[in-house]
Amino acid sequence: MKSPLNQWYEKAGVRRDPRRVIGQDLESGKTLFPEAMIPYLDHPLVRALGPDERFRIVARHLYQYLHFTMHFETSVVNRATERIANGTSGLGVATGMRLDAYKIYCDEAYHALYSLDIIEQVRGATGIDVPAYDFMPFLSQLDGIGAQVMQGEPLLSQLLQVVVFETLVTSILKDVPKDPMVVTTVRDVVRDHAEDEGRHHAYFSGFFKELWTDLDPALRERSARCLPELVLRSLAPDLAPVRNSLRLAGLDKDGVEQVVADAYAPVQVREQIRNSARHTVRLFESVGVLEMPGAEEAFAAAGLV
Ligand SMILES: [Fe+2]
Ligand SMILES: [Fe+2]
Repeated sequence: MKSPLNQWYEKAGVRRDPRRVIGQDLESGKTLFPEAMIPYLDHPLVRALGPDERFRIVARHLYQYLHFTMHFETSVVNRATERIANGTSGLGVATGMRLDAYKIYCDEAYHALYSLDIIEQVRGATGIDVPAYDFMPFLSQLDGIGAQVMQGEPLLSQLLQVVVFETLVTSILKDVPKDPMVVTTVRDVVRDHAEDEGRHHAYFSGFFKELWTDLDPALRERSARCLPELVLRSLAPDLAPVRNSLRLAGLDKDGVEQVVADAYAPVQVREQIRNSARHTVRLFESVGVLEMPGAEEAFAAAGLV
């Protein structure tokens, strides 16, 4: 099979794309992030804060997205990708696939670099402070699922994490580049990122098929039960920075909790997760994950099928 990364030297963003630099269009009334994708922005309590606070809230939403990306790429995706690349994944991965994993490793490091670069550029252009961002709670929660469901198999949990995340199709990567109201530089970096991720998606779909074939039946069964929860936790919105941003905008504690409860109602959150995860779930179905004992029920309980 032809590798999805066989033209990496010519096509990868880190090899080909220019550094994206914030231009003049911050001043022409554009937004830093698609406003319709910020679920709390049009809440009456937030709207009442006025247009200047609104702009700062949007900027902090962009910061939050980029900070998450920066940490996720290096702490989650590259943690597992390195193991595939350096030959310590415990699987008999062919050399070509290991070389491809190092290409992905370079891509993700570059995505982390330009995520922080854009944060700093936006801070410079707008003067809006960048709140501290703590990725550890998210990472501990994500690793916690593995520790519970896949006891004694931390490496397999990490490989499954990366498969799940790299085969999800998030609406941000898909929709931000198309939104003409968003600052061009932001659209450009998200488009750059989405192009690389298209190749990663294909790679990790192939990788998962090999991984699944390699697992013994007992581990397959445990993995199948772990995957729905992994999908849910990978895509659950990180609400700590949202709360922090709303406090900085001047809402009191009760106001913040009300906005969060209204904007992130469980039914809507589930619906969005199901939508982003549909390709991943189809991949699982294609190799027989859902035929394992208890799997169909676990996927249904998570609202994924
Ligand atoms: Fe990436
Ligand atoms: Fe990726």
